[in-house]
Amino acid sequence: MKAALISQGSKSSLMTREAMKKYFQVVDMLSLKHLEVSMGKEGGILYEGKPLPEYDCVYLKGSFRYAYLLRSIAALLEKKVPYMPIPGISFTTVHNKLLTHLVLEQHHIPMPKTYVSSTIDSAKDLLKRVKFPIVMKFPEGTQGKGVMFADSLSSASSLLDALGVLNQPFIIQEYIETGGCDIRALVVGDKVVAAMRRRSLTEDKRANIHAGGKGEPIHLTREVINIALDTAKALQADICGIDILESPTGPLVIEANVSPGLQGIQEVAIVDVADAIANFLYLKTQTILQGQKKGEEKKVMKDMTQTLENKEGVQEIITTLQFRGERILLPEFITQLAHFEDRKEYVIKAQKGKIEVKEFKT
Ligand SMILES: Nc1ncnc2c1ncn2[C@@H]1O[C@H](COP(=O)(O)OP(=O)(O)O)[C@@H](O)[C@H]1O
Ligand SMILES: [Mg+2]
Repeated sequence: MKAALISQGSKSSLMTREAMKKYFQVVDMLSLKHLEVSMGKEGGILYEGKPLPEYDCVYLKGSFRYAYLLRSIAALLEKKVPYMPIPGISFTTVHNKLLTHLVLEQHHIPMPKTYVSSTIDSAKDLLKRVKFPIVMKFPEGTQGKGVMFADSLSSASSLLDALGVLNQPFIIQEYIETGGCDIRALVVGDKVVAAMRRRSLTEDKRANIHAGGKGEPIHLTREVINIALDTAKALQADICGIDILESPTGPLVIEANVSPGLQGIQEVAIVDVADAIANFLYLKTQTILQGQKKGEEKKVMKDMTQTLENKEGVQEIITTLQFRGERILLPEFITQLAHFEDRKEYVIKAQKGKIEVKEFKT
């Protein structure tokens, strides 16, 4: 099987590529920077100016800066590549916190109260009705950089004025007191393969590792695991990191990441996460390819059945026999053609080189 890992070439991507090599015959590491998408007549995806080769599995990842490019590549590959863990739509949803929260809301996944308003003035009005402190976020910020905290109406108002001048879209969120901690759960398929608690070591309320947070081992409750799995499913991403805050009323999801860092979580959770991802990609691709083959076989058999039924006199096919242990399994279409039923009685005549099965008639 042939796979491609399309990414920005981070350490996490290199780790994933190395692990994928254990399972796939070919693993091409392609840089997002050298990919080009063209649409319209003779459109397609070019890598370093040449058409992208065919792959059985393409794992695409990259930061929010590449959200639209990732979505475009995935959209164009979706029909051609048997398996991609993240479909096009997830790249734009996950890379935008407002769109992520909309999906969470539609799937009844718990999250902090989140507001979006049309203008700075309407946001100021809204602030009169909320409890402080509050959090303001750029929908496309990462690594804690677009997250601001305000503990009073006056500090929130001055932040809003600055956002207005910068013409920056933002969301307002209820502040959840966690003592500067959050949980990162790494979902791969239908499992949380690793998790850590991140704790801010300073006065900073952001627990991101990039903002100076430190990872600690954590044993997740069934509730947190289920919420992480539900979130990944709602966002349609088979591989993603989910950020969760532990509130007094239960776990709340704040965001998802389709290009999660692996090093930190791997060290803390003592799990080979790159291997877990590679193994999952391999098994999933294999299952899909086998399913496709079965589908094709079924179609051939269906066509054959039709030929056999339609053309009078054509009642014979030449085929090999399938055995299960000592028993012969007849092809499905033979059963269909004969209209045999499992509760009726049949007479089976056998001699060397010949078997005949027919309905038992008294
Ligand atoms: N509503 C909130 N209440 C309390 N802390 C929050 C809230 N939202 C975010 N944080 C803190 O800020 C950090 C960064 O927020 P997050 O929404 O994950 O954005 P980023 O994409 O920058 O990581 C979180 O890991 C958490 O520690
Ligand atoms: Mg985060």
